Amino acid sequence: MSETPFHAEFDSSSQEFLLAGVIRPCSINEIAASIFMLKEAIDDVRGVLYINVKRLVQMNNTAFQAIARVVLDTCRTRSDLRFVVVTSSVVGWTERMFKHLSSIEPRITVEVYDSGFYPGQSFVEDESFIPILRTQTKMTWRHERTILPRHGMRPGIVMADICCGIGDFAALVKKEFRPARIVALDHSKASLAYARKMAASFDVTDIEYTYGDASEMLLEDNQFDLVTCRHSLQIFNRPDMLLKELFRICKPGGRVYITNEKNSHCLGEPHSQSIQWTYNEVAKLFRHFEMDVELGPKSRRYLAETGFDDILIESFMVTNLDGDPQDFADVITAWENVYAGEMAVKRGDSSEFIARFRQGFRDHIFAALHPKGYAGWPIWAASGRKPS
Ligand SMILES: C[S@@+](CC[C@H](N)C(=O)[O-])C[C@H]1O[C@@H](n2cnc3c(N)ncnc32)[C@H](O)[C@@H]1O
Repeated sequence: MSETPFHAEFDSSSQEFLLAGVIRPCSINEIAASIFMLKEAIDDVRGVLYINVKRLVQMNNTAFQAIARVVLDTCRTRSDLRFVVVTSSVVGWTERMFKHLSSIEPRITVEVYDSGFYPGQSFVEDESFIPILRTQTKMTWRHERTILPRHGMRPGIVMADICCGIGDFAALVKKEFRPARIVALDHSKASLAYARKMAASFDVTDIEYTYGDASEMLLEDNQFDLVTCRHSLQIFNRPDMLLKELFRICKPGGRVYITNEKNSHCLGEPHSQSIQWTYNEVAKLFRHFEMDVELGPKSRRYLAETGFDDILIESFMVTNLDGDPQDFADVITAWENVYAGEMAVKRGDSSEFIARFRQGFRDHIFAALHPKGYAGWPIWAASGRKPS
C-alpha cells in the first residue's frame, strides 16, 4: 500500500472536521493551514464538533500536540461546545491516543464507530458464521469458476476480495486464475484469523489478508482490475455506501463483481410449502436486522445507480444435484443453527414460531437428501465496469 496523502476538511452541515491519511509534519508550520481550518470550524459550530479520524492512518506527536492544544484550549473557553472524536478499530491507535484527551477533559468523548455500525454485525462477524461460509463457498465455487471469466477474471490481474469472510474464495481464485496480486479484506477478526490459518495449511502465502472496514477502506483509489464482493452487500444496511467504495478502488475500465441472494426463492420438493414458508420468514428475519437477503435481483439497479456501465447479470441455482447432496444439507444445517438459533432468539420469537421455522429447514434437508428430491438455492452474480 502506498502512503495515503494527508487531507483535512470541514463540513459545516454535519459539524464534522475530518483528518485523513498520513500526517507527519516536522514542525507545526507545515500544518498551519489545517490548524487554522480547525479553529475556523470551532468558531462556526455550536453544540458538538465531530472530529472524524476514521481514515487517519498515521499522525506524529507534533501534529497530535498541535491539535490537542487547540481542542483543550477551546474546552476551557467555550462552555457551549463538546468534541466527539470518531475513530475506527481499523486504526486502533487513534482510540488510545484520543482517549488520553477524554481522560483529562470530560467534554471530549471518543467513539469507535465500527464497534456497532450495522445491526447484524454481531451475528455476521461471530465465529458461528464460519461453518456457514465454509459450506457455502464449497457449493458456489462449482458455478462461479465458470462464471467469473465473463466478469473480468483472468490471470495476471490485480484484484481485491472485499468482505472476504474466511478467505476461501481468495484461495480458490489464487489457485485457479493466478492473479498477480490479491488483497482480501474483512472486518471480522475471527474470520481473518481462520483465513490466515487455512492459507498457511494450504501453503498459500501471497494473499494479503487485511483487517478493514469495507465502507471506509484505507486502500487507494483506482488500483484494482477486479473487485469482488460476495454475499455481503445484502448484509449491510447501506449497500450503496459499500458499492461507492468498491467503485472508488476499482481502476477505470475495471470491473466490480457482486453476488447476492433472494432467500425467499429457495425451494425444494417434497414439502415445498413448508420450505417456502420458512424462507419467506428468513427474508423477514434479516429485514428485522436491516439486512436485505432479497437483494440479488436488485443488483442491476444498485450497480447502475453507483455509476457502473456494461452491467452483466446472471443467476444460477445451487442444487442438491451439483455434487454430494450432503454438502447442500450441510449449508442448510448451518443456516438453521444461526437463523433459528441466535437470530430468532434475539428477535424474541416464540418457541412455536421457532419450531415451525426449523421445520422448513429440515424439510429442505429432507428434499436434498431424498433419492427423488430436489432442493435449490438461487444466487445472482452481477458485475459492472467503471467507466474509463
Ligand atoms: C455473508 S459474509 C460473506 C463472506 C464471503 N464473501 C463469502 O462469500 O464467504 C459477509 C462478510 O462481510 C464481512 N463484513 C461485514 N461488514 C464489514 C465491513 N464493514 N467491512 C468489511 N467486512 C465486513 C463479515 O465479517 C463477513 O465476513
